[in-house]
Amino acid sequence: MITIRTAEPRDADAAVDVLRRSITELCRVDHQNDAAALAGWLANKTPQNFLAWLASKNNLCMVAEEGACLMGVGMIGRNGRIHLLYLSPGAQRRGIGKAIYLAMERQAQTWGLQKLSTESTTAACAFYERMGFTRAGAAVPGLGVTLSLPYEKTL
Ligand SMILES: CC(C)(COP(=O)(O)OP(=O)(O)OC[C@H]1O[C@@H](n2cnc3c(N)ncnc32)[C@H](O)[C@@H]1OP(=O)(O)O)[C@@H](O)C(=O)NCCC(=O)NCCS
Repeated sequence: MITIRTAEPRDADAAVDVLRRSITELCRVDHQNDAAALAGWLANKTPQNFLAWLASKNNLCMVAEEGACLMGVGMIGRNGRIHLLYLSPGAQRRGIGKAIYLAMERQAQTWGLQKLSTESTTAACAFYERMGFTRAGAAVPGLGVTLSLPYEKTL
């Protein structure tokens, strides 16, 4: 059974491991194994930064857990920006991304927000479109070969 819950400091190492593996293995269409792009993308995915994100009143971090295994990580800002949504490789297409997303959307509604935004990877565009997001402008050059694709959704 998958449980979605607020992340806790004890999750830092496992959450960062999920983020780093997800970026490295599931976002190849974006970084194209370009070493500089990948290194830049991974640079801030450290346990120390994760603990700082948890401690910040500006964000909420969620995790998906199956038994003792962390399967996914999401982070939404109080400004309605989805900063992170990454699954462990092998965990895709089982509804886990949607479950984390819906938990973040519910939080945004609790905060009284009327709009969500994100800069999607190429890998996640179809997912965000399925979640009701629409493109909000041209692709923005990201790290190295990567592109950030702006999306938004009115709640
Ligand atoms: C993007 C991601 C979070 C989606 O999570 P997921 O658990 O695989 O998606 P779900 O199984 O919850 O799918 C939800 C819906 O999106 C659709 N969907 C998901 N991925 C899709 C894809 N690649 N192509 C088409 N549809 C897709 C599903 O069919 C499902 O539709 P339904 O609600 O009608 O059944 C996950 O694939 C991932 O971690 N990708 C790599 C990291 C990444 O790029 N993150 C985005 C950072 S901005």
